[in-house]
Amino acid sequence: MNSRDTSVDKEGNSVTSSVQALILVGGKGTRLRPLTLSAPKPMLPTAGTPFLTHLLSRIREAGITDVVLGTSYQAHVFSDHYGDGSDLGLNLTYVTESEPLGTGGGIRNVYDELTADTVLVFNGDVLGGTDIRDVLSTHERSGAEVTLHLVRVGDPRAFGCVPTDADGRVTAFLEKTQDPPTNQINAGTYVFDRKVIGEIPAGRPVSVEREVFPSLLAQGRHIQAHVDDAYWRDMGTPEDFVRGSADLVRGIAPSPALAKPCGESLSLDGADVASDAVLIGGTVVGRGARVGSGARLDGAVIFDGASVEAGAVVERSIVGFGATVGAHALVRDTVIGDGAQVGARCELLRGARVWPGVQIPESGIRFSTDV
Ligand code: GDD
Ligand code: MG
Repeated sequence: MNSRDTSVDKEGNSVTSSVQALILVGGKGTRLRPLTLSAPKPMLPTAGTPFLTHLLSRIREAGITDVVLGTSYQAHVFSDHYGDGSDLGLNLTYVTESEPLGTGGGIRNVYDELTADTVLVFNGDVLGGTDIRDVLSTHERSGAEVTLHLVRVGDPRAFGCVPTDADGRVTAFLEKTQDPPTNQINAGTYVFDRKVIGEIPAGRPVSVEREVFPSLLAQGRHIQAHVDDAYWRDMGTPEDFVRGSADLVRGIAPSPALAKPCGESLSLDGADVASDAVLIGGTVVGRGARVGSGARLDGAVIFDGASVEAGAVVERSIVGFGATVGAHALVRDTVIGDGAQVGARCELLRGARVWPGVQIPESGIRFSTDV
């Protein structure tokens, strides 16, 4: 990227025309089932907006307007919601894989749409606070063909582990290894010189993590690391989704899509919350959702139209669209599918998942014997 490629648009925002962005959003989101049966993972609501809007807003904030969505699973949901992207100040296009091509195949599949020499690729399920321009600067400064954004985590085993040398050059890429040599992991943002994308095999599934990066390294090609300590979370599991949503509400995770952090809770338009209900821990109550008298919600994500009845307790859990949690029920570390009805005095704990539309009668599931 050169500074001469940066101009200013009608609203006075800077625009970088030499960089295009691609967001991979074709995954099935299996770890977030059953919520991802009705919507793709990046379209699940967080702090009042589909999760992907936070990432799109960050891309726009970095001055990049040309964005391609690499879709597969439930592709129409993205285009129905975002259209041409103009509401967000973006020029959005869609490239759909009829069969999922994997992360590398998904990148190769948009090659014909790419006109810029530099392509920023994002995993579509990451909530991050990294300065995207800094990642681009690292790429430009080092002269690498590919640059990977890395973060440090406590347990790298669920991620791509990426050791580097003293100059910040990537020395290996070890996807989901049980024996990680470092706690530096792939944060899911890459800068590619466009010509490298053209080298990825076309027309078959390819993993960028297991095939493309290891093969480039085996050829001695230059992959640079950009390591930082900015906010970062992969939203792919219920625990992370609940944490990420709460972090957005509390302003711990930055997002240009939110006018301001909301504090301990956020009640969206048309939510009906009893005055003596307790909403803490970054709880979100969706549009038209109801929370009854004396209910206690701590780190809860209540989707639109759902209902939590009097005296119920919901902790670190997601309650799907139009679902009901009955009076005095206890719901902790649980995912409740769209339209499900959890009867009064039920107890759902420790990773329970209720499938959409399921009806559990009063006291139908408990973890204690004092009914
Ligand atoms: N277009 C398309 N096609 N997109 C896909 C496909 C596909 O076949 N498969 C997955 N994706 C998208 C997902 O929608 C998601 O946005 C992204 O690619 C990454 O897929 P995940 O399934 O979320 O991968 P992960 O979380 O297990 O691991 C990846 O992300 C980690 C960081 O969050 C890897 O890139 C790891 O190396 C990395 O550490
Ligand atoms: Mg992921």
